[in-house]
Amino acid sequence: MAAGRRPPAADGPGVTTALADLPTPALLVDRERMEANLAAMAAAYRAAGVALRPHFKTSKCVAVARRQLAHGAAGFTCATPAEVALLQDAGVEDVLWAHQPVGPAKVAFAVGALGRGGLTVALDSVESAEPLARTAEAAGVAVPYVLEVDTGLHRAGVDPGRAVEVAGALAALPALSLRGVITHEGHLAAYGPDRAGLEAAGALAGRTLVQVADALRADGHACPLVSVGSTPGANSAPFAPGVTEARPGTYVYYDANQVRLGSAGFDQCAQTVLTRVVSTQRAGTVIVDAGIKAMSSDAIATAGVLGVVCDLEGKPLDGVEFTTGHEEHGFLTGPGTDGLRVGDLLRVIPNHACGTTNMWSGLHLVDGARAVDHHPIEARH
Ligand SMILES: Cc1ncc(COP(=O)(O)O)c(C=O)c1O
Repeated sequence: MAAGRRPPAADGPGVTTALADLPTPALLVDRERMEANLAAMAAAYRAAGVALRPHFKTSKCVAVARRQLAHGAAGFTCATPAEVALLQDAGVEDVLWAHQPVGPAKVAFAVGALGRGGLTVALDSVESAEPLARTAEAAGVAVPYVLEVDTGLHRAGVDPGRAVEVAGALAALPALSLRGVITHEGHLAAYGPDRAGLEAAGALAGRTLVQVADALRADGHACPLVSVGSTPGANSAPFAPGVTEARPGTYVYYDANQVRLGSAGFDQCAQTVLTRVVSTQRAGTVIVDAGIKAMSSDAIATAGVLGVVCDLEGKPLDGVEFTTGHEEHGFLTGPGTDGLRVGDLLRVIPNHACGTTNMWSGLHLVDGARAVDHHPIEARH
C-alpha cells in the first residue's frame, strides 16, 4: 500500500485517528448511525414476520454485510456477479441475484455459482432463461429462480397479467425450479416529497405482487417467496399481507435522495465524504478536494447538486451549495461559504449512497470525531 493511502487507523485494533488527520477526500461511515439504521429496519420486519434480505450494492463491504447478518438479515440481494462471488466467498449461504443472467459469461458464472449452493437467480422470460437452463442441465446443476414482476418501475420484470403464462413456459425448461416472485418498487422515487402518495403506491406494489403469487399458486406452482424491495417503499410494500420478504439496500446509510423522499432524516445519514477547503481565490466560490470522482452525481435531490454540505459533526450547513465539480475539485457557493477558510474540514452527504460507494475502494468507520477502523469496498466495476 503506497504511503498516504491509508491512515494509522488501518494499522491495528485499538488504533484510532482523528478526522483531521485523515487524508482527504475520504469516505466515512458513522458507526452509530449505521447500527441504528440496521437495528430499526430489522426490528420492524421482525415484528411483522417479514424476512429481511438487504441489497448488497449499497455497501459492497463484507464487514458491513456481517453487521447486517448480526442484526438478523436472512441473506442478501445482489446485482452483479462480482457481488455474488464476494458474498459466496465470505460464506453467505443465501444469496438472491436479482438480475437476469444473460450472455455466455454470466451464464457460465451463474452455473458455477449455483453449483456452490444457496444461490437463487431472477428470470423474466424464456429468452433469458433458456441458455442458463440448458447449460445448467448439462452441468447437472439445479437452478432455483424467482420470477421478476413489474409492479410499476417498467424496467425488467413481466407484467403481472403475464406472470402465469411466463411461469408456465419456464416450467417446460430443464433444471429450473420456481421459488417465488420478486419486484423492485423503484418507481416510488417518482413521488418526490409526496410521502402519502409514495406509501400508497408502495402498498399497491406489495398487493399486486401478492396477487401474482396467488395466481401462480392457483395454476399449480409452488410460490413460497413473495419479495419486495426498496428503501422508499420499506415501510409500505413489505407490510401488504402475503409479502414474505423485504430487500431494502440504501437504508444501511440513507442519503440526501432518501431524505427528500421522506425515508429518513439527515441525522440518519451514515455515509459522508470528508473533504477539505483547498482554495478560496474567487469571492463567492470555495474549492474543496472532493469532486465528481469522490461523489455520485445521481439525481439532484436537494439544494446541493452533488450532495449536502455539512459541518464536521454531520449537520447540514445553511447557505452552502455543492454547485458543481471537476474530477478532484468541488465548487461550493452561497452566502454560507463566506466563513470558510483554506484548511477547513467539511462532510458531504451524497445524493446517492450506492453510487458513491462504487467510487471508493475503502471506507473509514467513524465513532464521533475519530476513525476507528478501515474496511475494503470490493466488487466495484
Ligand atoms: C432488485 C432490487 N432490489 C432491491 C433494491 C433496493 O432498493 P433501494 O436502493 O431503494 O434500497 C434495488 C435497488 O436498486 C433493486 O434493484
